[in-house]
Amino acid sequence: MVASYTQLLGRRYKGKLDADADEFIHYAVDGVNRMQRLIQDLLTYSRVGTQGRGIRPCDAGRALERATANLQAAIQETQASVEHGPLPAVLADETQLTQLFQNLVGNALKFHGAAPPRVRVRAEPRGEEVRFTVRDWGIGIAPEYFERIFVIFQRLHGKAEYPGTGIGLAICKKIVERHGGRIGVESQPGEGTAFWFTLPAAPSHPES
Ligand SMILES: Nc1ncnc2c1ncn2[C@@H]1O[C@H](COP(=O)(O)OP(=O)(O)O)[C@@H](O)[C@H]1O
Ligand SMILES: [Mg+2]
Repeated sequence: MVASYTQLLGRRYKGKLDADADEFIHYAVDGVNRMQRLIQDLLTYSRVGTQGRGIRPCDAGRALERATANLQAAIQETQASVEHGPLPAVLADETQLTQLFQNLVGNALKFHGAAPPRVRVRAEPRGEEVRFTVRDWGIGIAPEYFERIFVIFQRLHGKAEYPGTGIGLAICKKIVERHGGRIGVESQPGEGTAFWFTLPAAPSHPES
């Protein structure tokens, strides 16, 4: 209601009041949009543990495909390239795996330097697990922040520079841990970032 009516005010009265009014309405619309994003992200975060679906064999390639489809607007806008190697089947909640890829690839698209973002997703079997890497060649992260960024609301930039709620990586960590995996990051400022996470491999001969 608040969002629709402030947007309606903006549309219907822009230029008809005074400059202050236009500015105030602009701040109200901007604030309410961010509030919506924040509530949405908080709900997603809180539901990882309570509304998760079953953990079963699923195709990581399909999850990545869905994630990039959801990011299509950002990919086109930034002229990004997103490439991936062969992605195996894992034991996961496919909706959450999609969310995980979407948050990591979304960050790679957002925190880029002057050049259009480039993202590469790889998977490597490691015994009973698969280790995924989502790599970019963007602005990078200093090692002293490697732990902090996974904490909810922790961001390294102002919202004017890069918009966001600081919840994305906390969601990623919660999803990975729900699957019994681990998540981490390797990076250097200016050299890009590689987020990695592990998930249990799907059994190659599923028992019936
Ligand atoms: N690919 C990346 N490259 C550089 N910095 C990143 C990347 N991904 C995450 N970060 C840093 O970690 C912070 C937390 O990420 P996240 O939880 O997704 O929040 P948000 O995307 O809303 O800022 C970001 O604000 C940013 O400072
Ligand atoms: Mg994010």
